Amino acid sequence: MVDGKFLTLGIESSCDETAAAVVADGREVLSNPIASQIDVHEVFGGVVPEIASRHHLVQVNGIVDAALSDAGVRFSDIDLIGVTEGPGLIGAVLIGLSTAKALSFSLGIPFVGVHHIKGHIHAAFLEHKNLKPPFLSLIVSGGHTDFIDVQSYSTYHLLGQTRDDAVGEAYDKVARVLGLGYPGGPKVEKAAKDGDPDKIFFKRALLEDGSLDFSFSGIKTGVLNYANTEKQAGRPINIADVAAGFQASVLDVLVQKTELALEKTGYDKMTLGGGVASNAALRERLKRLCEQKNVHLYIPSPVYCTDNAAMIACAGYYTYQTEGASPFALDAKASLSL
Ligand SMILES: Nc1ncnc2c1ncn2[C@@H]1O[C@H](COP(=O)(O)OP(=O)(O)OP(=O)(O)O)[C@@H](O)[C@H]1O
Ligand SMILES: [Mg+2]
Repeated sequence: MVDGKFLTLGIESSCDETAAAVVADGREVLSNPIASQIDVHEVFGGVVPEIASRHHLVQVNGIVDAALSDAGVRFSDIDLIGVTEGPGLIGAVLIGLSTAKALSFSLGIPFVGVHHIKGHIHAAFLEHKNLKPPFLSLIVSGGHTDFIDVQSYSTYHLLGQTRDDAVGEAYDKVARVLGLGYPGGPKVEKAAKDGDPDKIFFKRALLEDGSLDFSFSGIKTGVLNYANTEKQAGRPINIADVAAGFQASVLDVLVQKTELALEKTGYDKMTLGGGVASNAALRERLKRLCEQKNVHLYIPSPVYCTDNAAMIACAGYYTYQTEGASPFALDAKASLSL
């Protein structure tokens, strides 16, 4: 406790970011340092799991120290540790979880395991102090594309999800096809800015009438086939137009499905989260839709959209209120349902 405020130390290590944060009373971010491994994996064109684990191991203690010093607090001020328990790269998750257990044991304070996607949902609480459940949440990340009915801080109902690739995964794969490299999402977004979204048409996969599920593997193949056809015909590929056409297809699907999800749930508020939520074009399109439908849209700042530990601390704080501490026997999980 500091000044009567309950302090949660968050730890996140599920993929290629080693992150720690100190959050007061669940929502006030006191610090949020993030050590990204982008440079390390860039040469491989994607995240190499074993290398990610090794880097988490090297970074984790330093990042926890940085979180404490940036917040101006000591270990003895921390009341709770919230840590990602899955889903994610198993070796990577293990580093954060083992660190949390060791700190919990040595400091004599509780720790609570957090579902990584619950963290992405909770990111919206950090900057919107009045936001309370229930609401609709759309999570668009590297591994997930989910519509979630957030009924309370601890009750969730999955309304729809991707049947194959996640939207971030599609961005990453298209970036690879276009030779833009890793991390793909921001590079495709940047290329699309100079392109004509109507020049090349890629099919919108809307699935059955009324479905809130997604499918993004077709668009990835569509881009690959287009690139191969052009190459075989000896025609140069306009990368900006392909990126813009791809992004237009993806955003049309996300916006149409969101409209349907809002109609089905009847909610007048929704949140967006996950790494792809930092995409400015998506933010703009959803803002327009929500204005038309009189829905209040809450989008975290980009730093809270991609992986960070402040969102994990926030989710840990609320999970602890309803479920209490996790046991030391808690395992890291590569896959975990919400
Ligand atoms: N500006 C952007 N436009 C589109 N996609 C983006 C943008 N910025 C990041 N992304 C994508 O977001 C994903 C990373 O998001 P995030 O860190 O939340 O995913 P993850 O943690 O790997 O997956 P998950 O959260 O499902 O476990 C990557 O696929 C990346 O390409
Ligand atoms: Mg994530």
